[in-house]
Amino acid sequence: MDRQEDHLKGSFLDQSVSVRVRALGSTRMTSESPPPSAAWELLLPAAAAPARARGRSLRSALRDAVRAGRLAPGTRLPSSRDLARDLGVSRGLVTEAYEQLTAEGYLRSGRGAGTWVGEAARAAAPGARDLAPRTADGIRVDFRAGSPDLSLFPRTAWAAAQRDVLSALPHQGLGYPDPRGLPRLRTVLAELLARRRGVVTDPERIIVCSGVTQAVTLLGFVLHARGQRGIGVEDPGSPQYEELFAAAGPAAVRLALDAEGLALGPLRASGVRAVVTTPSHHFPSGIAYSAARRAQLLDWAREVGGLVVEDDYDGDFRYDRAPVGALQGLDPEHVAYTGSVSKSLVPGLRLGWMVVPDALADEVVARKRYMDLGNPALDQATLARLVERGDYDRQLRRCQRAYKERRDALVAALRAHLPGTEVSGIAAGLHAIATLPDRYGPPEALVERCAATGVAVRPLGHYGSATGEGVSLVLGYAHLSPGRITEGVRLLARAAQELDHARVHSTRR
Ligand SMILES: Cc1ncc(COP(=O)(O)O)c(C=O)c1O
Repeated sequence: MDRQEDHLKGSFLDQSVSVRVRALGSTRMTSESPPPSAAWELLLPAAAAPARARGRSLRSALRDAVRAGRLAPGTRLPSSRDLARDLGVSRGLVTEAYEQLTAEGYLRSGRGAGTWVGEAARAAAPGARDLAPRTADGIRVDFRAGSPDLSLFPRTAWAAAQRDVLSALPHQGLGYPDPRGLPRLRTVLAELLARRRGVVTDPERIIVCSGVTQAVTLLGFVLHARGQRGIGVEDPGSPQYEELFAAAGPAAVRLALDAEGLALGPLRASGVRAVVTTPSHHFPSGIAYSAARRAQLLDWAREVGGLVVEDDYDGDFRYDRAPVGALQGLDPEHVAYTGSVSKSLVPGLRLGWMVVPDALADEVVARKRYMDLGNPALDQATLARLVERGDYDRQLRRCQRAYKERRDALVAALRAHLPGTEVSGIAAGLHAIATLPDRYGPPEALVERCAATGVAVRPLGHYGSATGEGVSLVLGYAHLSPGRITEGVRLLARAAQELDHARVHSTRR
């Protein structure tokens, strides 16, 4: 496998999703403009290598990038001063790497200032317009939603936080943790959730868990033990809830949505007393529940003595205005709030939190204790330290900038290559819905044609029982560079046009 590639499993129980994280410099840069600093982030792991190996790692990462064609011949490199600053290494290290690779013929230095990727590397490079190599299943660009950009994980800050923790942690801190989570983490989370999401809580009410998935599972067990045989889920929504609840006991009862959020009629008619929702950014349609619907949902919960489970899976990312505050803030006794670091850091950490009504707290904590005796203490302490150092907020700001740029790239590419496509759900989150003109349907045929062309997409219908109207695709964009997004949309347009032509020809015959 290409060393610059990272094939990683998808998220949220979806083992079939293979995500290729963004590749260095996948946008063609002209010799006039050095690539944006974001394009150099794949050199960061090399820059974070131990001091002794750092120079070698940097040279080898640059060489690989040129060989693999990610830095095309003629690409101008940033000045050694700029790159050193972006990577957080000494300028001498970068100068040395430039000189070495120039001597080897990978780079050339111009008269005056400036370093370029040399023409000699052309033979090895596939050419800037070349598409990304196909993965084992033939996929070049994977738009399936669910993953943040794993290469944005703040490795250096995490390592520093972990070092701080290890040097200060008393031996007792390595024993079995409080099943509710380390007090230190609960304290910072209470402040963070109140400040960023308007959650009403205090450290005593927070339960640390291994993600939204575990939070929902724990609630499934507790509600089932209390006699609830069915729990409502959004339709369309995360298909995984059916399996989660099957393991915990209750049946997942699918409930339809309308333009404002979960529809109240079907909810009342269903007889359920608990429902899992994504009110800040519905998954997958991307709508935010209207203020009226949020209020109606809470009225329902009060009337039936029920519970609204608020899955705030990507509530931190809102591009056009401040994030909508959590529903939980309006009625903490009828809402169980849950979120995780799966989108803000990486899903592999398996770290999340829940804030449940007082009446359920003891039972949830007891379940958590039986299930796993609590989350790993070192990771909890490291996350707490990361927040305390301000690095978690910095990470959110950094991701917000990167994801907004990618969202804009997606919208622009769809406008350029698939005119007539409506894009929705773009105000927040890490995915959008693209509704293509009807002639490119039906969605199943388009998805199949896309796969053959090398682009993986999922139709909106994948997430619900209703087939839905139009040719709507759920496009995850956060894990892809702007260049890869444009390339993916070009492939998608090609697939759509082939499908359209094939149909026109067959009806003419
Ligand atoms: C709707 C929804 N909820 C929750 C999650 C994340 O769950 P966890 O926090 O367990 O990783 C995802 C991840 O893709 C999701 O799509």
